[in-house]
Amino acid sequence: MPANYITSILKENRIFYPPKKFSENAHIKNMQQYGELYKKSVENPEAFWAEMALQLEWYKKWDTVLRNDMGFFKWFEGGYLNVCYNCLDRIVKSGKKNKTAFIWEPESGKCKTYTYGQLLKEVCKFANALKKLGVKKGHVVEIYLPMIPELPIAMLACARIGAIHSVVFGGFSSGALRDRIQDSKAELLVTSDGSFRNGKIYPLKENADNAIKECPSIKNVVVVKRTGKKVDIRKNRDYWWHELIKEENESCEPESMHSEESLFILYTSGTTGKPKGILHTQAGYLLFNYLTFKWIFDIKDNDIYFCTADIGWITGHSYIVYGPLANGATVVMYEGSPTFPKADRFWRIIDKHNVNIFYTAPTAIRALAKEGDKWPNKCSLSSLRLLGTVGEPINPEAWLWYHKVIGKEKCPIVDTWWQTETGGILISPLPGATPLKPGSTTKPFFGIEAEILREDGSKAAVNEGGYLVIKKPWPGMLRTVWMNPDVYKEKYFEKFGVYLTGDSAKIDDDGYFWVMGRTDDVIKVAGHRIGSAEVESALVSHKAVAEAAVVPFPHEIKGSAIYAFVVLKKGNKKSWKLKEELIAHVAEHVGPIARPDKVQFAEDLPKTRSGKIMRRILKAIAEGNKDYGNTATLSNPGIVETLLKEKIE
Ligand code: PRX
Repeated sequence: MPANYITSILKENRIFYPPKKFSENAHIKNMQQYGELYKKSVENPEAFWAEMALQLEWYKKWDTVLRNDMGFFKWFEGGYLNVCYNCLDRIVKSGKKNKTAFIWEPESGKCKTYTYGQLLKEVCKFANALKKLGVKKGHVVEIYLPMIPELPIAMLACARIGAIHSVVFGGFSSGALRDRIQDSKAELLVTSDGSFRNGKIYPLKENADNAIKECPSIKNVVVVKRTGKKVDIRKNRDYWWHELIKEENESCEPESMHSEESLFILYTSGTTGKPKGILHTQAGYLLFNYLTFKWIFDIKDNDIYFCTADIGWITGHSYIVYGPLANGATVVMYEGSPTFPKADRFWRIIDKHNVNIFYTAPTAIRALAKEGDKWPNKCSLSSLRLLGTVGEPINPEAWLWYHKVIGKEKCPIVDTWWQTETGGILISPLPGATPLKPGSTTKPFFGIEAEILREDGSKAAVNEGGYLVIKKPWPGMLRTVWMNPDVYKEKYFEKFGVYLTGDSAKIDDDGYFWVMGRTDDVIKVAGHRIGSAEVESALVSHKAVAEAAVVPFPHEIKGSAIYAFVVLKKGNKKSWKLKEELIAHVAEHVGPIARPDKVQFAEDLPKTRSGKIMRRILKAIAEGNKDYGNTATLSNPGIVETLLKEKIE
């Protein structure tokens, strides 16, 4: 945790109350209502969730609300529904056929909108096309697309026919795509002829072609024409999306899915060298996102909601696609970069579409604040009524800027804490009720019992930092790690017997949660979750590298950035050129977001006598913190001094 973060928290102790008018119209209007409902939800979570689940449409009602199957939690067993039906047909049936579901804003600005009725037709057409290509219930479909409407359409089409989607962020490299396809054993890949970012074309199809050379499970590839760039189309394997759907029927019977059948896999970095496939299932995931979206974003029928996340991450899955659509909301989806063509793109999108609710990440807020107030001040932003943030701790300075310059001091800010594994938001203000403290994610959502534990498993005292855990299961939680149930048990439940989040946090005198950062080897770079082991193995795969260790260091905009210590193999010379080459190598193998900002060549790394690299010491060096503890137990204590002397500023 950067030291300036702690000091700024100490300085900022103002409390911001929800505007009276906001509270009066909100779904949850005050802390008393929150308190009563929260009490009910944790005293009898099964009754609470069962009552809420009646808001969805079921083919068959469940038999059991919750069952603990030897540490694997099952929700709504015996129940059958279809997620896509609940997100589209149910909304159309309720009279909203002509309500806008998506407003798609491409980088070019030439918008396209889809009503619920149109979206349903497009989804059905693609669902039928998938079936023709042999995709069946339980098959995995890999989706490697930019932020274009075909991405949610493909996801919903999978959900409709019972196929499992696995979306890979379009900014990932071919190596990252290959690893994910190999693990998920996908049968079909959906990609595009490229994507636009900052006006440039990123070659998705080329990446996909390279990846699938080593992915024998892929039988077919569907290619969306986005950029018009010429790409290879291999006969009898690759098909253009627009040609496939041309003749397809506009209706497709939704598959009746058991609550606990798989909905999607989403890979995320952990402490191991390989990303984990987090598995989410049908009913529990849908219910949790339906309800968290409704109450945390306080959604109303005429709201326009804009979430800047990429659908390649969990935020996009839960709060661009499933949560908003299940509520019949209107969602703005933006294709490109926040600064294209200029640093006011988000603010212009807000004005252009009269956005009422805006959800983004602290890293974007910091980056845009740095561009200056002149950009938002050129816009009105008067349509906004609620702001949100997610992905990493927000420093109070950024919070206050967001509150003043974007929210004009009239919009509550929901600082939402959650993870790929949790499926939806677990700790967050309810905007009409919760008094806000900048930098705090405030209080747990209904049904969520969060606690801070010490190393020995005892409960931490008030204001004492420790491990953030969730004590009881909730409907949106991960069900397992794809093909790896042992990792699920070990990583999330072994340490304390309750769900271990991997974050450190504290609870203050008012019961407010303050998330401090990760306790494991995951580095949050600009809100993206990067496994240090993945970056290290990419570095070590370079021919010149003998050994590598990466640690986070505080970064003004990204929150944390990556500092790499690299030991070269004998005969290799340190040079700027080699540094650049190593950075490019990581970008190629893991993805551009994992690029180290600093690379320090080292003779050796600090190690224990048993050969374990002491990251704690490297982290202190990278942070410029002299307090690196006892070095006497190192097999090579002298190296610390050398590393410090050669530190990259
Ligand atoms: O460290 C926490 C941080 O993001 C991690 C989860 O990352 P990921 O699975 O990529 O999901 C991000 C989007 C939900 C958490 O373990 N994190 C997320 N939200 C917050 C946060 N840290 C502090 N405050 C938040 N609001």
